Amino acid sequence: MRIGAWSLDPPVFLAPMAGVSNRAFRVLARAEGARLCTTEMVSAKALVLGGARSFAIAELEPGEHPVAVQIAGSDPAVMAEAARLVERMGADIVDINMGCPVPKVVRNGDGSALLTDPAKAEAVARAVVEAVRIPVTVKMRAGWDGEHITAPEVAERLEAAGVQAVAVHARTREDRYAGPVNWEYIRRVKERVSIPVIGNGDVDSPAAALRVLEETGADGVMIGRAALGDPWIFRRLVHVWQHGMDPPPPDADERAAMARAHLDRLIALRGEGPAVREMRKHLAWYLRGVPGSSGLRARTATVSTRAEALELIEAWRERARDEAPVWN
Ligand SMILES: Cc1cc2nc3c(=O)[nH]c(=O)nc-3n(C[C@H](O)[C@H](O)[C@H](O)COP(=O)(O)O)c2cc1C
Repeated sequence: MRIGAWSLDPPVFLAPMAGVSNRAFRVLARAEGARLCTTEMVSAKALVLGGARSFAIAELEPGEHPVAVQIAGSDPAVMAEAARLVERMGADIVDINMGCPVPKVVRNGDGSALLTDPAKAEAVARAVVEAVRIPVTVKMRAGWDGEHITAPEVAERLEAAGVQAVAVHARTREDRYAGPVNWEYIRRVKERVSIPVIGNGDVDSPAAALRVLEETGADGVMIGRAALGDPWIFRRLVHVWQHGMDPPPPDADERAAMARAHLDRLIALRGEGPAVREMRKHLAWYLRGVPGSSGLRARTATVSTRAEALELIEAWRERARDEAPVWN
């Protein structure tokens, strides 16, 4: 699959996740095989106003290419300006958020609210496409609710505006993150456009990835929550893609090394205190499914220094090594 000059094979991508898909996590996902990673969403307005936190979100790791920076907003001029900024900061692709369901976002007409106004979605995309030389992509949901599945129409308009790929999270805004995903929505978008369509939503294993591709005709898959505490999912996907079989899961030593690397990258980014607090949720995710981890999982909520986090990682590495690896 291609986006602009980028050849993205195997087409296995890390989803944008606020609070997760920062530089530290993207580097780990990429090393495991994610061919394209997208940043956390950044408010176009905040970027244009020069907000330091927004700039930090859009900052890239040296050598981290290709990478997409996701901007959110619905004012075409502001979105165009934000797109120019992220292009200057080194983004390879600008991704527009048309999926965020959060009330604070949709109240402004941003995120998934754009799906209720296909003409406006098109105008935003056109303004961004005209503002930059790099490719523009869009991540969207299926529509606002089950009665309004606008993604196929919106996608058609986006293609006409010059958007080079769309990722479809196969849920509506009303579904939020719960309820069954309906991959049929992805197929309906795929039927309407000739640009690449990336399938997203509950793809949690290589088998699920192959199923979504087969059922929808999608050109690639995007993984979000299944990568939490499990960046190896990309390696498994690549392996299945290339060799047709699922490799063995990571052993205790690999899991511990990954958690340590994640911790240290976050510390380099934020400083020890904030990084360790942010790392608590990741430690709990890394421990998911590890035999005998329940006592240790409770401890993840209280670590506050690098030394405590390392001690915890070492404790579960030793326990896990003594038990059969039943992860995944
Ligand atoms: C914690 C979290 C943060 C997210 N943040 C974003 C975001 O910033 N931009 C976006 O387009 N989608 C965001 N999403 C949605 C995901 O990209 C993805 O579409 C969704 O989780 C479904 O895919 P999955 O089942 O593989 O997780 C977020 C999801 C989660 C769980």
